Amino acid sequence: MSTLFEELSRVTTYDYSPEEVREFEVLHEEIRALKKQRNAVIVAHNYYRPEILKVADFVGDSLELALMASKVKDADVIEFAGVHFMAETAKIVNPTRTVLLPNLLAGCQLADAAPAEDLAVRIAELRAKHPDLAVVSYVNTTAAVKALSDIIVTSANAAKVVRTLSSKNILFVPDRNLANHVAEQVPEKNIIPWDGYCYVHQQITPEEISRIRKADPELQIMVHPECRPDVADLADAVLSTSGMVRFAKERPELRFLVVTECGLSDRLAMEVPDKTFVKGCKLCTFMKVTRLEDVRDSLRDMKYEIVVPEEIRVPAERALRRMFEATE
Ligand code: 13P
Ligand code: SF4
Repeated sequence: MSTLFEELSRVTTYDYSPEEVREFEVLHEEIRALKKQRNAVIVAHNYYRPEILKVADFVGDSLELALMASKVKDADVIEFAGVHFMAETAKIVNPTRTVLLPNLLAGCQLADAAPAEDLAVRIAELRAKHPDLAVVSYVNTTAAVKALSDIIVTSANAAKVVRTLSSKNILFVPDRNLANHVAEQVPEKNIIPWDGYCYVHQQITPEEISRIRKADPELQIMVHPECRPDVADLADAVLSTSGMVRFAKERPELRFLVVTECGLSDRLAMEVPDKTFVKGCKLCTFMKVTRLEDVRDSLRDMKYEIVVPEEIRVPAERALRRMFEATE
């Protein structure tokens, strides 16, 4: 079995020294003791720092984390190593548990691109023109936006969910690149995109990806649907983050280009050591702001508790449950 230092050495985003890894091991012990004391479960998003993934009970993409959070029964506390909208989603679907976000700076620029007040105005405008309008929101939105939505989607199920809707006219919020991907997959719908994008994925250019592929034509290219359409066009597969993990494990090929936030290549490097993962990635400051110490402090001091008012939580939960039902 590899030591923590050997596993973290495979990760190329950081260059941890043996001393740093020893500090991580001490923190892991403290976190495990606090987890027991608080009767907590730690869930973490695929983009999080590898030393945090190593202490999590469950690691996944947004859909897996939302489903997992909805099923937590035995633990009193869900320690959410993700960004704010993800912890909020956990609270919406499991309101009797205490949900903690270890660092309040872990927001999401894409979620901020669609303020609920602006969305309410846009819905009223579009409903006057298209009475059948359905409002489909990406899970990367605030609870208030989810409350205004008919149904939620994630990067793992967006086209599948949209196909189940009876409405032809769909307002798709807030990611225009994911909206474009869905419009290509479901051409029978009129997809009206909100003009938001993720600053991390938007920075990745087709020139960069073509240059890497030219130098290494054997690479299988996996692209996240938040990337620009001209980047998605170069992909062998357009996938959610956990979709990429499954694809890389199942495919016979040995070399992959991972086009998303860099944390995913780190998870793959640790988990699939017999294959090569080339990085076509950028860093998300929101995903990287949380340190292992924050996770320890969060469980020790029971901070920062996520609260969602009932008048927002109830309609937001309805939209999320519709997604679970549509994809069951
Ligand atoms: P996934 O649901 O594919 O993990 O994506 C979440 C996200 O924030 C991508 O930037
Ligand atoms: Fe938000 Fe983009 Fe960061 Fe994902 S990668 S959390 S969409 S800013």
